[in-house]
Amino acid sequence: MAPEAYPMNGGDDTYSYTKNSNYQRDATNFVSEIMKAAIAEKLDVKSLTSTSNTLRIADLGCSVGPNTFVAMQNVLETMEKNYHSQGLGSKMPEFHVFFNDHASNDFNTLFSSLPPDRQYFATGVPGSFHGRLFPESSLHFVHSSYALQWLTKVPEELLDENSRAWNKARIHYACAKEEVANAYAAQFEKDMEIFLNARAKETVVGGMMVLILPGHQDDIHHSQVLACLLYDFLGSCLMDMVNAGLVGEAEVDSFNLPVYFPSPNEMAPLVERNACFSIERMEMMRPRSNTDIAIDAQTLIMHLRAGMEGVFTKHFGREIVDEMFERAFQKSPAEFSRLLDLSSTLNSLLFLALKRK
Ligand SMILES: C[S@@+](CC[C@H](N)C(=O)[O-])C[C@H]1O[C@@H](n2cnc3c(N)ncnc32)[C@H](O)[C@@H]1O
Repeated sequence: MAPEAYPMNGGDDTYSYTKNSNYQRDATNFVSEIMKAAIAEKLDVKSLTSTSNTLRIADLGCSVGPNTFVAMQNVLETMEKNYHSQGLGSKMPEFHVFFNDHASNDFNTLFSSLPPDRQYFATGVPGSFHGRLFPESSLHFVHSSYALQWLTKVPEELLDENSRAWNKARIHYACAKEEVANAYAAQFEKDMEIFLNARAKETVVGGMMVLILPGHQDDIHHSQVLACLLYDFLGSCLMDMVNAGLVGEAEVDSFNLPVYFPSPNEMAPLVERNACFSIERMEMMRPRSNTDIAIDAQTLIMHLRAGMEGVFTKHFGREIVDEMFERAFQKSPAEFSRLLDLSSTLNSLLFLALKRK
């Protein structure tokens, strides 16, 4: 069975990911210095290209752009600098960038907006990164930003009325029973195991992987994580619609968002268990402050819509989803300031730099 896929909104209209992904782009820009430092210190470009004159880079979960182009440019510039600083400027390799996402991603928009002045060959790779995508030992650098939080599926227990993890009247785990969050964590663990096994096969020894995903600090409970609270907020809009007789209660009970935000203490053992990568750097970061978000609640809803509309629409249908986001607009910003009081967005971005052993 094909894995579930919910690509971001394609095209470039009002609700597109292209027009509503500044927060993710901020994160890309924010981590660029630390990523460049990790590449400069840990990636031995000379030995990586000792047998071939091509450096192969993959961006997993690239979506429709433009963020992926910014990230790839950062990677390329740093690698080029490495060559120059080692006196190898005249032996610059050719760069080959692989843009990966689910087959249903809007690759047309991606390809038609490729930077015309790019210094790399571009190739699209459709398919789930929870599985093999590339030949053995073929990649030198793997990048993935804001994509690994997507699970392959909603944990089954959440839909089972007889399970302690039945997630009645909620669509995520922020304020749900602990069993619900545990089921999500277990699914994330399984998915990461598959992801790391596949990348371990595809990445050359000495190659690197930089993973950036929304996460949460170890000392923060899910009920304080802003992203989780925002999903809860959308859930509350749906429950308002249940109370208004616009949506059946069972429809909400049978829906959960397949996204999980791990903490460093959850991530580290998964990398260690895989045993093929060393953790060169791992930390939680804060690309934006609470105040920035408070100012721009409406923009945040547009971002949520560009990213999550597909998954909601598949279950509830277009009309209900339009109404849900309309209600979310009406409820904010009063509701948002309440959420911000409850939440801690101190460090919401998990950065990992791994090296293939
Ligand atoms: C929020 S977007 C991030 C896009 C881009 N990396 C950025 O930073 O703006 C997440 C992307 O990951 C993709 N994605 C999620 N799970 C995936 C999987 N298993 N395989 C490939 N792509 C996946 C989604 O389709 C979506 O396009």
